[in-house]
Amino acid sequence: MLMDREQLIDLTRRAVKLARDKTTDLAPSQYTVNAREYTSVERHERDKTMLLTSPQLVGYASELPKPGAYCTKMVMERSILLTRTADGSVKAFNNVCLHRQSQVATGCGTAKRFSCPYHAWTYDNTGRLVSVPGAEGFPGVTLDADGLTELPAAEFAGFLWVALNPEATLDIVAHLGPLADELASWGIGNWSPLGEKVLDVPINWKLAVDTFAENYHFATVHRRTFALIARSNCAVFDSLGPHHRLVFPLNSILELNNVPEEQWDPFQHMVVIYALFPNIVLSVTIANGELFRIYPGDTPGRSITVHQNSTPLDLSDETVAAGAQKVFDYAHTTVRDEDYRLAETLQANLASGARDQLVFGRNEPGLQHRHRAWSQALDALDAAGSSDRR
Ligand code: FES
Ligand SMILES: [Fe+2]
Repeated sequence: MLMDREQLIDLTRRAVKLARDKTTDLAPSQYTVNAREYTSVERHERDKTMLLTSPQLVGYASELPKPGAYCTKMVMERSILLTRTADGSVKAFNNVCLHRQSQVATGCGTAKRFSCPYHAWTYDNTGRLVSVPGAEGFPGVTLDADGLTELPAAEFAGFLWVALNPEATLDIVAHLGPLADELASWGIGNWSPLGEKVLDVPINWKLAVDTFAENYHFATVHRRTFALIARSNCAVFDSLGPHHRLVFPLNSILELNNVPEEQWDPFQHMVVIYALFPNIVLSVTIANGELFRIYPGDTPGRSITVHQNSTPLDLSDETVAAGAQKVFDYAHTTVRDEDYRLAETLQANLASGARDQLVFGRNEPGLQHRHRAWSQALDALDAAGSSDRR
């Protein structure tokens, strides 16, 4: 069963009540943000440091289905190789050859050894350098002792995690807090991955995260898509440390009014959105585990979104697999053509300097919490930085 039934029924009760009362969870007050947070180079650099020092969720555990499996991931312009080794554990490495820094692996699949495409230096799946053609040319290189730079890695709550700094300790238990059990309960880790779709867009990375933090815009932006099935400006909000959960009720939720609670099948009537600090969004239904990994680009006005989806359906059936890809395509084109296209006009206006501020309403508690969590983390980083210098 997904999530704790008590907790699920409680969230559903709250959703039904909000829908019945035609309202949404409200923050105590409005919240004002400075436009420069989306446009300043200085803030952009601090944001990048914040991401580099946070545990990074990079995919589903099911992307490494068995020992010998590998996958590669782009995370903030870094190429990372993940492997599942003979003992079943997950390892991660900078996907950077010791010779002249070629990527040693691409895509995903099964391989116990990785032979660099440039001059065939070869590594095993624990990162060790196991062969160098023309080894007499490299007296400074030692087989077995030398290898790819290993990054802290873990499989936890159904997801793959890495730290981008090789020296860091990766403490995901502390990072997720009580959310760990809830995420694990979905079982997304065992669902079948449907691939990655990348959006390289002219919007600040926070603007990309913002689009998933409220459903106030559904009736307008998604008039012909999501709004046909989901309510607008109606969300159950809970902050969970620096993360949050939003429940977006579907239009059908009011049917539950006439059904005794014991008979409720709540997942037929909601989408659950998790924002994981600082840059990850999960959008989950009983049939889809969508993942958005959102990264700052080379300038404040650019970002990269890696969109993944997974399904509990059995993809060995071709018709089922085609149907699942169609659902993924639909969600992807909606985000690309509706949310992000609109956000491009925001970014242009923010960068123009025409207006200094923007405002998040009481009905946008997710946005308020995201921006508060980022500010607090940046303050903590600044404090740590100044005590380092002392
Ligand atoms: S760059 Fe990898 S073998 Fe030369
Ligand atoms: Fe949207």
